[in-house]
Parts: sequence; C-alpha cells; structure tokens
Amino acid sequence: VRELSYAEQLDLIHRLTDPATDELMRRLRLPGGSHGLDAGCGSAWQTLRLAELAGPTGRVTGLDSDPQNLSAARRAVGDAGKGSQVDLVEGDLLDLPFDDAAFDWAWCADVLWVGMVVDEPAAALAELTRVVRPGGTIALVYWSAQRLLPGYPALEARLDTAFAGTVPYVAGIRPGQHAMRALAWLRRAGLSGTRAETAVADVQGPLSAERRAAMIAVFDMLWGTLQPVLDAQDWAAYRRLCAPGSPDNVLDDPDYYGYVTYSAFHGRRP
Ligand SMILES: C[S@@+](CC[C@H](N)C(=O)[O-])C[C@H]1O[C@@H](n2cnc3c(N)ncnc32)[C@H](O)[C@@H]1O
Repeated sequence: VRELSYAEQLDLIHRLTDPATDELMRRLRLPGGSHGLDAGCGSAWQTLRLAELAGPTGRVTGLDSDPQNLSAARRAVGDAGKGSQVDLVEGDLLDLPFDDAAFDWAWCADVLWVGMVVDEPAAALAELTRVVRPGGTIALVYWSAQRLLPGYPALEARLDTAFAGTVPYVAGIRPGQHAMRALAWLRRAGLSGTRAETAVADVQGPLSAERRAAMIAVFDMLWGTLQPVLDAQDWAAYRRLCAPGSPDNVLDDPDYYGYVTYSAFHGRRP
C-alpha cells in the first residue's frame, strides 16, 4: 500500500472531524462577501469550507510555509473550481506577507503549537492581529479531545498520557503555553469579546471503508509512535485493538462509537 502524503492524511482525517470544525466555522458567522485569512492552511480543505461560508463574493487567502502542502492545496482549489475565490500564498505565520488590516477575519487551525511552530504565542498573535482590520475576528482552533477506545478507559487514558508528553504538546512547555490557554493569548494581544467554544464530531459504526481508514490514520497520529514510552502490555493491547489488520480491531464493531472535539478561541480586534 502506498504511504499517504501528509496532505492526504490531513484530508482523510478532515472527513471525520469536519462536523466539529464546520460547526465552529458557522458559529463565527463570517460576513458574506468578506475576505479572510486561513493561516497554516495545509491542504486547503478548511480554506475551501471557509470560502463557501464567505459566500460567492467572499474570498479566502490560504497561507502555509510548506511548499508540498501548498501544492496539494493548489490541486484541491483547482479541482473545486474555486481559483477565483481562494488565493494561496507561501509564507510564515510569524512574518505575514500582507498589509496591515488586509483581512476581515483570520482562522488558524491546528497550527499555533508552542514548542513546535513558535517559541511563544505572542509574536504570532501580534502578526495575526496586525493583518486583521479593526472589528475583525481571529479564531485559533484546535483538536482538543477524543474518546476513541470504547470499553478500554484505563488503556485509553494511559495512551493519552503518553501522547501528552509528545508533539504537538512537547514535554516541558509551561502551562500558559498550551493551546487550551489561548484565551489569554488573545486577550494579551488586545482582542476584545474573547470566547472559547467546543464542538463534537461523532464517529458511529458501522464505519465505511473510508471512515475506517480515517480512524486508522487518527490512531496512528495519536498513538502510533508511542512504543518507546509505553509498557509492552499496553503497546500490545493498542496494536490488538487498533492495528488495521487485527481481528479484534474496535473499528469493526458495528456498534462502535467514539468522538473527537475541536475548540475555537476567538476574539475581535477593537
Ligand atoms: C496540522 S496542519 C493544519 C493544516 C490546516 N490548518 C488544517 O486544519 O487542515 C499544520 C499546518 O501548519 C503549517 N505551518 C507550520 N508552521 C508554519 C508557519 N510558521 N507558518 C505557516 N504555516 C505553518 C504546516 O505546513 C501545516 O500545513
């Protein structure tokens, strides 16, 4: 089986998590005809959803620092026939190649991880705030939780504990640098009306082949590299319950249920 590219993995996982991120996008009530920035747009999956919400006269600029992700994004935008509504720009979140107040809003999903993408959030927040017009909104959006191993709460808690010390949560970062503290980052950047909200993507069996593949990609993303830090029994249990070819894979239960949550932290530039 061919290894999926990073952009392909993102797209696969978005098929599961879309209900949560779509809900958060809708709650932002992006004005029709507005021009937004999708900072760290990856494969442009969400850029295209945001463009839909901004309406036929709206525009979205997707920015990413990775040329490979941007090529995938260009293909996706071309395939969707949205070239007139979506621009894609290579650039760094910390040095945005845009004028002051160029956008009505900015969306930044699963990008701003301290210890991985930035040393501290303030510089990135200052840049995002600079390019959004007064009255415009900034939303920092993160995958925030999941329950994916029904019936195995203790094992799942141990897997999550092991994951919490690895990327993107990088062991050793200070509590105030964790994404769940993003309300303070927005407030310190001078934004008003700061608000956090969470939406859920449910994953219910029986799973289609596509959703099963997406869940396998999720298991792998969360727990697939933890062998060195797990005890042998937990690693064996993880493989038995989650490996694609295992006869005991939890995803093959027609009554499987799990969920993923996304949280948005947003505020308005005064
Ligand atoms: C986990 S992906 C999320 C992509 C997209 N927001 C989504 O939710 O599908 C993180 C993205 O951030 C981009 N990225 C990382 N550091 C960046 C930086 N300093 N400036 C711009 N983009 C960056 C990566 O190239 C990658 O495409």
